[in-house]
Amino acid sequence: MVAARITVNGKEAPISPAAPHTTTLDFLRERGLTGTKEGCAEGECGACSVLVARPGVNKPTDWVAVNACLVPVAALDGQEIITSEGLATVGGPGMPSTLHPVQEEMAVRGGSQCGYCTPGFICSMAAEYYRPDRCAHADPEPGPGADSGPDSAGIDHEHGPNGFDLHALSGNLCRCTGYRPIRDAAFAVGSPTDEDPLAQRREQAPPAPVATEYAQYDSAFLRRNTLAETLELLRERPDAVVVAGSTDWGVEVNIRARRADCVIAVDRLPELRELRVESDRIEIGAALTLTEIERRLDGGVPLLAELFPQFASRLIRNGATLGGNLGTGSPIGDSPPVLLALEASVVLADADGEREVPLADYFTGYRQSVRRPGELIRSVRVPLPLSPVAAFHKIAKRRFDDISSVAVAFALDVEDGIVRKARIGLGGVAATPVRALATEAALEGKPWATETVEAAARVLRGEGTPMDDHRASSLYRSAMLGQSLLKLYAQTTEAVSS
Ligand code: FES
Ligand code: FES
Repeated sequence: MVAARITVNGKEAPISPAAPHTTTLDFLRERGLTGTKEGCAEGECGACSVLVARPGVNKPTDWVAVNACLVPVAALDGQEIITSEGLATVGGPGMPSTLHPVQEEMAVRGGSQCGYCTPGFICSMAAEYYRPDRCAHADPEPGPGADSGPDSAGIDHEHGPNGFDLHALSGNLCRCTGYRPIRDAAFAVGSPTDEDPLAQRREQAPPAPVATEYAQYDSAFLRRNTLAETLELLRERPDAVVVAGSTDWGVEVNIRARRADCVIAVDRLPELRELRVESDRIEIGAALTLTEIERRLDGGVPLLAELFPQFASRLIRNGATLGGNLGTGSPIGDSPPVLLALEASVVLADADGEREVPLADYFTGYRQSVRRPGELIRSVRVPLPLSPVAAFHKIAKRRFDDISSVAVAFALDVEDGIVRKARIGLGGVAATPVRALATEAALEGKPWATETVEAAARVLRGEGTPMDDHRASSLYRSAMLGQSLLKLYAQTTEAVSS
């Protein structure tokens, strides 16, 4: 087995002697690349953002921004990353150094004050700068829809005339500058030139995943090339922690000081990275990142399209997977309510074969599920056709990059004014994500009308056993459940009457 190595800003370096749990952030800073900062060490501030070369959606390679504080450096064995130090062009004798275009815009527009957050913003901004399908609009003037949804030119307060999607920065926090000059910089960046080396790099394939056998200090980080090899490994090491984007495990390591004897990475397994749309279902590989699913489905599953922008931040979505969100079994994960409303099932695989489990039967208790030691979530199946009346309501203190107090997903079939089928998924109201079965029964077979909806909203307020905590009181959570249904009804009747 070749020693673990990583390419940073074009230079290859050994990962040893870092421990298997060492984060990419700590690895970089140990090497003197201190532009990459630690703010929170739990994926919430973006000060640690770096760019990773990943398989692209429209080009062979995309430059993808991730939180270096969460990703173990061993997970990047054989991979290629760029830090903020690698973006500027450093001059030689008689040659001036030049800032990268996004650095230049941040500097001239006052987007940096104390500068602590700046390298992270720069990396997230650079990822969006290099996004191949970002395109400038012909008409740079924001239209009448500028304060709400995108106007016909696709410009609003979240999308610049240069096609910059401000959600690219949703995982970056600044404590002193204020976001206006940062947004000004984002909306002012142009397009990469043909000579830009990172733009050129997108035309070649990213580094292939490599099998990793990295052991130090009595613990190991392992990666296999195929699902069959991984399942055999899991049979031998059922105690291993399985990671994809490490967006959850990284927090455990940093904040709760958890360590594992053995960590097994599954994020590059080709069998877990397929997305197939068939006549009766959509099969989503458990190790596709949420960003990849979002871009590949391109709005084809409206409930998921509503979910993605509200799921943490772009930096997290660039690493997080459906397999991980279901695997951790958190009662406040954002994807389970949506997948429950979609009547999804999970395909579990072990060395002896596969089985399909409806998601409604998957969770058995607080962070518990029917998944057995040695089993992996291989994919998530969403049956077709989709119910046409759908909505996802996440109630949280902040609009983006926050944990939900309560989350509700609806998927309803309404024909001739009658609710033929209702599926409602809830998060944050019990020890597990749950279906609102009593409310579904209160809606089915009834007219989609004020009286039905008000009665069903009263039932919905009583679903689950919401608790009091620092995010919300149980009364507030219950009230929000009912309000969600009333809001959905108001939205559908508004849509019909407009
Ligand atoms: Fe805050 Fe990584 S240090 S997101
Ligand atoms: Fe100080 Fe952003 S410039 S935190």
